[in-house]
Amino acid sequence: MPGIVVVGTQWGDEGKGRITDLLASQADMVVRYQGGDNAGHTVVLDGVKFKLHLIPSGILYPNVMCVIANGVVINPEVLIEELTNLENKGVSTKNLRISCNAHLVMPYHIVLDKAGEYRLGKSKIGTTHKGIGPAYADKAARSGIRTQDLLDLKIFRTKLEEILKFKNAVIEKVYELEPLDLEVIFNKYKDYADIIGKYIVDTSFLINKSLDENKRVLFEGAQGTLLDIDHGTYPYVTSSSTISGGVCVGAGVGPGRLDEVIGVAKAYTTRVGSGPFPTEEVSKIGDYLREKGFEYGTTTGRPRRCGWFDSVILRYSAMINSLDSIAITKLDVLSGLDSIKICVGYKYKDHVFYDLPPHQSIIHKCEPIYQELKGWNRDISSLKSFKDLPEETQNYINRIEELVKVPVSMISVGAERSQIIIKDEALKQRLFERHMRSTLIV
Ligand code: GDP
Ligand code: IMO
Ligand code: MG
Repeated sequence: MPGIVVVGTQWGDEGKGRITDLLASQADMVVRYQGGDNAGHTVVLDGVKFKLHLIPSGILYPNVMCVIANGVVINPEVLIEELTNLENKGVSTKNLRISCNAHLVMPYHIVLDKAGEYRLGKSKIGTTHKGIGPAYADKAARSGIRTQDLLDLKIFRTKLEEILKFKNAVIEKVYELEPLDLEVIFNKYKDYADIIGKYIVDTSFLINKSLDENKRVLFEGAQGTLLDIDHGTYPYVTSSSTISGGVCVGAGVGPGRLDEVIGVAKAYTTRVGSGPFPTEEVSKIGDYLREKGFEYGTTTGRPRRCGWFDSVILRYSAMINSLDSIAITKLDVLSGLDSIKICVGYKYKDHVFYDLPPHQSIIHKCEPIYQELKGWNRDISSLKSFKDLPEETQNYINRIEELVKVPVSMISVGAERSQIIIKDEALKQRLFERHMRSTLIV
């Protein structure tokens, strides 16, 4: 079972980082395959918080190879800051590799992201202002600059000169902002090249070789299924393929190499930025979840919108990602509530939808249909097995399984690595007991 995908099933921030960190203890390689530093993945180890934006959440293990694959867009300034922060905390970054085909986030992408959002006014997407959309747009327009261009500064400069002329025209004439200076950008990126050049390789060979050797490779998703450029709540999405299928394109592996897909879902729902969110609670309960769950963006610090668990979107995610199991996170946050709601369907006019409605305006306007379950009062954050959980907590998880029709494999009850319940015994063996490694297949 060497190729395992960890994917977000909601609108991001489900706790992918902490689940990846947990599984990475048994992995040989962890790969980020899409997104950029719009992602913020938190890992808490013995009270120390690590906030990772570009570097895979396997970096805390000294023997795990960490790969930023071709599908990621990289802001080198952020990457270098992250490398420095990790080294300062005593974490070695020698096992990092960066794809030569990954695109670079350039300063004009950030200017255009911010300016574009400002132009949209009330209709803004609520992006992270990290230049992600404009960087992916340039990739698709075939005018992007890649990490491999940093290895030949003559080529880098030629490409930069060409594209900057056009970007500055837009910046000045459309947005009436100050143009960017070629020399300033060139000199900055020349310095970045000196630092990150040594990590740049063709990572698709590296990943496929590891899989050939029956090594265990974890693919760490960023954002979530409902933020996917094709399958999410467009246009209120990010600009990459966040779903499990994105692994093939974003890392350069064939679909047959993916053996297991684990969907990460929060025990409730959150969203940052604009867009439909049927179970959102603009109410005391929303505030309660935000404060108790500390629902503030890892990347931007923005308060996250909060609401009840939505089984309609989870069923959709299960289908789109072909989930084998679900890891439920932050269940401890629900302790202390008298009753807990689960959305089982949506009502719109005289229609009831159990599947995600086909039209965005219906998702905007529908009313969630709730089932109410009894809450629990006990602190569950130190429990280690499913059978020790209060009966009401078990009922909540069982109901999620029934509604989504996918088994729950793991439940996290706190942010620390150790605060996890592995529910499925068979899965526990598959995921946590290392199988015999076969020798290299030639
Ligand atoms: P990601 O982007 O999917 O990796 O998720 P984030 O790191 O952005 O957000 C998840 C937040 O919840 C982080 O602050 C985690 O430390 C925290 N967290 C993760 N699992 C749990 C849990 O089981 N209980 C609690 N209370 N916090 C958790
Ligand atoms: P992780 O990996 C939550 C959201 C933004 C915005 C939309 C588009 O930590 O789960 P972008 O900057 O990508 O163009 O913004 O996507 N968004 C996220 N929300 N978690 C994330 O990452 C996100 N990355 C982007 O808030 O609504
Ligand atoms: Mg996050």
